[in-house]
Amino acid sequence: MTQKTAHIKSFGCQMNKLDTALVTAALKDVGFALTDKVTEADVVLINTCSVREHAEQRVFSHIGHLKHIKETKPALIVGVIGCMAQRLGSDLLQNGTVDIVCGPGQIPRLTELVKQAIVKNEKQLSVAESIRKVSDNPELEDFESVYDSADKDIPGQAYVRAMRGCDNFCAYCIVPYVRGPEVSRPVNKITEQVKRLANEGVQLVTLLGQTVNKYKYSAGEKTYTLADLLYEVGKIDGIEWLRFVTSYPQKEGFTELMQAMADLPKVCNYLHMPAQSGSDTILKAMNRHYTAQQYLELIDTARQIVPDISIAGDFIVGFPNETNDDFEQTVDLVKKACYKNCFVFKYSPRPGTTADKKLQDNISLEVKKQRNYRLLEVQEVISAELSRRFKNRRVTVLVEGLSKKPHLNSADGHGDPQLVGRTDDDWIVVFNGPVSLAGQFVKVEITKTSPLTLFGTLVTQKPLYHC
Ligand code: 5AD
Ligand code: SF4
Repeated sequence: MTQKTAHIKSFGCQMNKLDTALVTAALKDVGFALTDKVTEADVVLINTCSVREHAEQRVFSHIGHLKHIKETKPALIVGVIGCMAQRLGSDLLQNGTVDIVCGPGQIPRLTELVKQAIVKNEKQLSVAESIRKVSDNPELEDFESVYDSADKDIPGQAYVRAMRGCDNFCAYCIVPYVRGPEVSRPVNKITEQVKRLANEGVQLVTLLGQTVNKYKYSAGEKTYTLADLLYEVGKIDGIEWLRFVTSYPQKEGFTELMQAMADLPKVCNYLHMPAQSGSDTILKAMNRHYTAQQYLELIDTARQIVPDISIAGDFIVGFPNETNDDFEQTVDLVKKACYKNCFVFKYSPRPGTTADKKLQDNISLEVKKQRNYRLLEVQEVISAELSRRFKNRRVTVLVEGLSKKPHLNSADGHGDPQLVGRTDDDWIVVFNGPVSLAGQFVKVEITKTSPLTLFGTLVTQKPLYHC
C-alpha cells in the first residue's frame, strides 16, 4: 500500500484528546502520514462526544461536510470513533458516508479496521458487545501503555489516564453507558508511561479519570489511592507539574489528596470539582451523593490545607423541575465557593439515562439560557476579583504556544508575537515572546487582568527548569 494520509478531528473532553493522541501515534506506527487538512486526507477520523446533544449535532454536521468531499473523492474513508460510536453503533453506517465505527474500548483495533476498509472497500463496525469491555480490556491496557500520549498541539504536555469509565450513574449523564464501569490502571503502567513521556521532554502530566479521586489499585498488600499515585508519579525526574482531573465531591480520601497537593511541590494547586447544582433537591434528583453544605465543607478543607488553591466547578442549569429557588441556591453556592472559573451547561436530555427515562425536560430553553447567563455573570465578578490580585506580581508560566485569540497590539516592539500559557493554578496568561518558548517555563510580570486572562510582560527568557 502506498503511504496513506490521515486526518483526525477531535470533539469533547480531555479523555478524547488523549484517545486522539494515542490513535495518532498508532496510525503513524503503521505507516500513515498525518495531515491537518481534511481535503488532503485519504482517511478522516472523527473522535466524538455524546455528553450533550449539541456535541452530537456538531459531529453530524461535520459528517455532512465530509459527505460533500466524498462526492468528488469516493475513495475517502470516514471513521467515527469515541462515545457516539459506542452509543449509536451500526446506525452511523446507515447514511452511506461513514465507513468505520469504532467504540472507545476498541481503539486498539482501529488501525486494522482502517486497513480493512481501504483494502477490502468494506464498511467496518467494532463496538464492545458488553459495556464492561469498553473499560476493562487487556488489549486496551497494552495499547495505552505502548503508544505515546504527548499532546501534539501543545509541546511539553501530556494526558495520562489513571482511570477509565464511571460507576456513578448521575441521572443526566451518558458517560457510564458509553465508557463502561470504573477501572483503575496499574500504578506501574502509569509510572512507566510517565517516565517515557518525561524522557521525550514532557514536563506537565495531567492524570485523567471521570472521577479521578476514586482511583484505587491494589498491588500485593498495598492499595493505592490517588494521593499515593501522586506521590509515586511525583518522584519521576523531568516532570515538573502534575495535575489531576476531574474530582467527584466525596469525603473519602479528600483530606489525604489535599495533603498530597500541599506536600508535593510538583502537584499544581488546582482542583476541578463539579458541584452541578447548589440545591439539595436537585442534587438528589441528579443522583449526586452529597448536599450543598457537604460540598462547601470539602472546599473549606481544600482551602485549609492548600490556602492558595484555585478551584473550578461545573454546573448544569435547567435540570428537570429546577425551580427559581433551586437555581438561586446554585447562585448562592457559586458565590460561597469562590471559584477561579466555572463551566455552565444547559441540561440536555441524553437517551437511556435515568433523567431522560423518568423526568420531563420541562425547563424551557429560554429559562436555561437566562440561568446560564446569570450564573456566568455572577462567576465573572468573582473571577475578576481573584484575577486582580495578580496585578504587578510575577508568575511562573508554562508556555503553550501562539495565542489563538490575539488580543489588541498582538506583536510587540520587538516583533514578538503573542503567546499563551498557564500558571500552575490554571490561570491563562498572555504575553509577547518568541514562539521558541513553547513548552518552556518562563516568568511573566502581570500588568493587566481580566476575569479569565492575565496579561503581562516576559521577565526572563531563560527556561526556569531545563537549560
Ligand atoms: N446535560 C448538560 N450537561 C451535562 N454534563 C454531563 N451530562 C450533561 C447533560 N446531559 C456536564 C456536567 C459534567 C460536564 C462534563 O458536562 O456538568 O461535569
Ligand atoms: Fe457523568 Fe457523574 Fe460519572 Fe461525571 S461522575 S462522568 S457526571 S456519571
